[in-house]
Parts: sequence; C-alpha cells; structure tokens
Amino acid sequence: MTTFRALRVFDDSGLASARIVEMGLDELEDDAVLVKGAYSGLNYKDALSIAGRGKIIRKFPLVPGCDYAGTVVRSRDQHFKEGDAIVLTGFEFGGSHNGGFAGYACVPADWLVKLPTGLSPFDAMTLGTAGYTAALAVHLLQQNGVTPDKGRIAVNGATGGTASIGINMLSTLGYRVVAITGKKATAETYLRALGAAEVLERAECPAPRRPLESPLWAGALDSVGGDGLAYLIATMQRYGVIASFGNTGGNDLKTSVLPFILRGVRLVGTNANSPPEERALVWERLASDLKPPKLTEIATTIALDDLPGAVERMLAGHIRGRMVVRLE
Ligand SMILES: NC(=O)c1ccc[n+]([C@@H]2O[C@H](COP(=O)([O-])OP(=O)(O)OC[C@H]3O[C@@H](n4cnc5c(N)ncnc54)[C@H](OP(=O)(O)O)[C@@H]3O)[C@@H](O)[C@H]2O)c1
Repeated sequence: MTTFRALRVFDDSGLASARIVEMGLDELEDDAVLVKGAYSGLNYKDALSIAGRGKIIRKFPLVPGCDYAGTVVRSRDQHFKEGDAIVLTGFEFGGSHNGGFAGYACVPADWLVKLPTGLSPFDAMTLGTAGYTAALAVHLLQQNGVTPDKGRIAVNGATGGTASIGINMLSTLGYRVVAITGKKATAETYLRALGAAEVLERAECPAPRRPLESPLWAGALDSVGGDGLAYLIATMQRYGVIASFGNTGGNDLKTSVLPFILRGVRLVGTNANSPPEERALVWERLASDLKPPKLTEIATTIALDDLPGAVERMLAGHIRGRMVVRLE
C-alpha cells in the first residue's frame, strides 16, 4: 500500500494543530484524478491554515496548501491520463479538501490545468496561486486598456509573493513600476532587481485626507486592501485601473465615490478561482509572454519539515518572494 508524508492539521480539543504524519492513499478523497506531487508552494492563506487562524480549514483533519504541481498517476476523467504534468491552484484544495502539503492528492478533474510547455513543476509552484493571481491582475489591467505609455503602475505590499511576481511581469512588459513596501530599508535592492523603477515606503502612501489627491498612477496592483487601497483610489489618474486581489492591510475600505465619477477610476476585482477557459489562457501566458525572467531569484526551496518555521516568518511579514515546498 502506497504511503506518503504529509503536513496535516488536526483539531486537538478545539485547537488547530499541524504535524507531519504518514498517510495512505485511502485517507484521500475518491475524486477522478490521482496526482503524485513534485512541489507545492506556501501562500499567506496556507500560513493562516497551518497556524490555525483565519477559518480557512473547514474540515479536520486536513492537509492544507492550495497549490500543487505533479504528475497524474491514474484518472477516471477523459481529459487527463497517466503521465500528464498538471498544475492546480485554489478552489477547495487545502480548505475543505485535502491539499498540497502531501506526496499525493486526489482531486476533481476540473480543478486541474495541464502544465503548458515551457514551465517545469518547480516553475509552476514558484508561480503558484501568487503567480497566477499576478498574471490575472496584469491581464485585467491590459484588458482595461492600461498600456505602458499611459503612465506609472503602483504595486503595494511589494515584497509579497504575488506583488513580487507582478512587479517582474509588468517591468518586463515595459511598464514603469513603483513598488510600495513596508520594508524599504531592507528590500529596495531586491525590488529594483525585480524591475521596480522607484520604491516608496508604505508611510509615504497613507490613507488619503481628501477624496481626490494628486493623480499619480495609470494602473495599480493592490495586495493590501484597507488604507493601502484607499490611497490608490484617491491617487489614480483619469481612467486609472486598479486590480484588487488582497487584504493583508485589512478588509475595511474607507473611500469616496468621487474618484469613480469624476476621474472614471476603475476598480477591478481579481479572483484566482477563475473559470477553466480563463485559467488555461492565463497559464499559457505564464509560460510565454508573462513568464517572469527572475523566477529563480523569487524562489526559496524548503522541505515539508521547514514549513512551520516558514509560516511563522510569513505571518510576521518577514518573507520575501515565494517559498516552494519540495515533496519528493
Ligand atoms: N484574490 C485572490 O484570488 C488572491 C489570490 C492570491 C492572494 N490573495 C491575497 O493577496 C494578498 C497577498 O498574498 P501573498 O500570498 O502574496 O502574501 P505575502 O507573500 O505574505 O505578502 C504579503 C505582503 O503584504 C504586505 N503587508 C503585510 N502586512 C501588511 C499590512 N498590515 N499593511 C500593508 N501591507 C502589509 C507585506 O509587504 P511589504 O512589507 O512589502 O509592504 C507582505 O510581504 C493576501 O491578502 C492574499 O490573501 C488573493
């Protein structure tokens, strides 16, 4: 009987507790496609799951981790066969369905995308939900007419996994990117190496005092929400577009209707659990024109046993780039 190592979260008398265990295939779901994992990746929401915060895990015991790349071992679905390289990001994976911090996963076929030529499983997990979300955000800016000649693009929460990848993608496409970070003193060199043309300290971009401040940005990627997003809305140029995907700075948004009705600012919601056609399209772009050239610089490879320490650092805001988890 095949057994494999997994990081699993248990409900210990009301307290979520994560530990490495040996699992059997019979402890996984009986879904259409069985996948042997090569790599997973650590996202902010996975860190919350492992720390027992954020109510992300809705069933115990459960393997957390919302990202996975590996090879199909067996399939009852006609779209996938043994040996196919696949990538999975999001949906219920690691929430109410066993997720990615395990040697195997058994999942519904419609959560999977065939790995496009040009991306290895390691590349795919350096990208992961973060890379997919960054690519979708850039794709949405482009669909809404933001071209490099329109002006500067602000990216906040800049050292985060999603934002780091977004900066590298945008600068490669020829946009002038301004990174907004809470750690300018230690991260400026890193952010410039990714392609940021300017780096601002978060304190320089405070909650706006007026509904409309000086117009600064043609586009923005918002990973912060809260005051960070309120600042962006008030400082967008006419017809500026913000792709909003994150809430590390809070869920509440204090803003005004004026930037929308006087400047035509557009706030575009960006959700990584997008429909299959959009996912296939964006993953193809991730393997081609949106593939960030600095992928290797963004990645730090860790083992399953290193996850608890990485989680602590992530929740304390000390992570830079992406943590890729080796499963083999
Ligand atoms: N909509 C979706 O489908 C989707 C998909 C993926 C991620 N997300 C969300 O996007 C956000 C970023 O995810 P991630 O995985 O990239 O996270 P991450 O790697 O942990 O990065 C988060 C970054 O946010 C900044 N930050 C942390 N606390 C902050 C605070 N109190 N105020 C302002 N900035 C703060 C920090 O960057 P600096 O120190 O450089 O400012 C930090 O590095 C999360 O909220 C996540 O849930 C959403």
